[in-house]
Amino acid sequence: MMRICIFGGSFDPPHAGHLKLARHLIEALSLDALLLIPAACSPFKSGTHAADFQRLDMCRLVFADEKMEVLPFEIEKGGTSYTIDTVTHIRALYPDAKIYLAMGADQFLCFVDWRQWKDIMRLATPVAVCRSSQNMLGALEAYADRELRAHGEAVVLPFDPLEVSSTSIRRRITMGKSIDGLLPEVLLPYIEKYRVYTKDGNYVRAVHEKLSEYRFRHSMAVAETAEKLAEKYGADPAAAYTAGVLHDILKEQPPAEALAFFEDRGVTLTPLERGAPKLWHAMAGAIYVREAFDVSVEIAEAIRWHTTGKAHMTTLEKILFVADFISEDREYPGVEDMRRRAQTSLELAMDEGLRFTIEELKSRGAPVHPDSLACYEEIQKELQKETDRKEIPENE
Ligand SMILES: [Fe+2]
Ligand SMILES: [Fe+2]
Repeated sequence: MMRICIFGGSFDPPHAGHLKLARHLIEALSLDALLLIPAACSPFKSGTHAADFQRLDMCRLVFADEKMEVLPFEIEKGGTSYTIDTVTHIRALYPDAKIYLAMGADQFLCFVDWRQWKDIMRLATPVAVCRSSQNMLGALEAYADRELRAHGEAVVLPFDPLEVSSTSIRRRITMGKSIDGLLPEVLLPYIEKYRVYTKDGNYVRAVHEKLSEYRFRHSMAVAETAEKLAEKYGADPAAAYTAGVLHDILKEQPPAEALAFFEDRGVTLTPLERGAPKLWHAMAGAIYVREAFDVSVEIAEAIRWHTTGKAHMTTLEKILFVADFISEDREYPGVEDMRRRAQTSLELAMDEGLRFTIEELKSRGAPVHPDSLACYEEIQKELQKETDRKEIPENE
């Protein structure tokens, strides 16, 4: 008979202690499969948390062994999940299996208060996981005998846990402290990429909520590229990352909503701007990020000018403009050339990007924004200066 165990939790984040327990369950219960089921979390939790999709991603990275499987059942269902629902679901998937249900000692000791606990016991065997050093084992056995075993099987499983907790890991990351050894190595690049449990991580989550998967990936790619360009060209990498994450946050705002947004804030659009909805997300986005997240003016300004450009752009503004053209997700003829240019100078890449934008607008008979023209002219001058400087022999 196939032997299965359900292991639920917030997994926010899954850590080395969870992994140790997962392996122990497989071994001690001779399991064929351990089903890891991240719980749907209340959106009203305080503090910094990972988004549902991130907890799933992280679980899949951590619990990657052959006998471990991560199920999105509770997250996809949303709202409060009762164990009876989850156990019923798993029983339907595996009608002939022996099913265990892992839980901590505290949960086990109030098992008779759980909703439909007798039904749960008909479908699965509760397993109390308890550290062997505590004097709890006897108490758990006594409770199982007294309350549960008349209704079915119940198991008490000694286990020596690691002294790790998700709460302390989250706190450490938020405070910028080291998390060496607390998290499986495989999670580190992921947590870094999405800035999980940091202020930037909140922006990432907000963007994920507002945008389609496709545009979310784009925003993340722009953030990474902008960060690298900032390192190369001496701007603030953290600000560049944030600007990248947030630059398209209102890109999928319905036009009527965008117009109402401007109206509410007393923003008057020029006739050209009114006729070019593609520009709205940059104009509205710059206002929105200040209102919703209180990010710096510099970041908001970079978002403001990322589609049109303008004369006298700061390095950060140029970086976002260029990153939007060359991020990893971009695929268009000439993108490789753009990437090469960006490695030489921001102006060289902007020159090409602006030419591309202006030509595209002209080909559609659409007017070009005066800010773009001003930007283009200035870039030409800057590039000319650059060429002149190179042409002057060193000794003159
Ligand atoms: Fe954009
Ligand atoms: Fe973009």
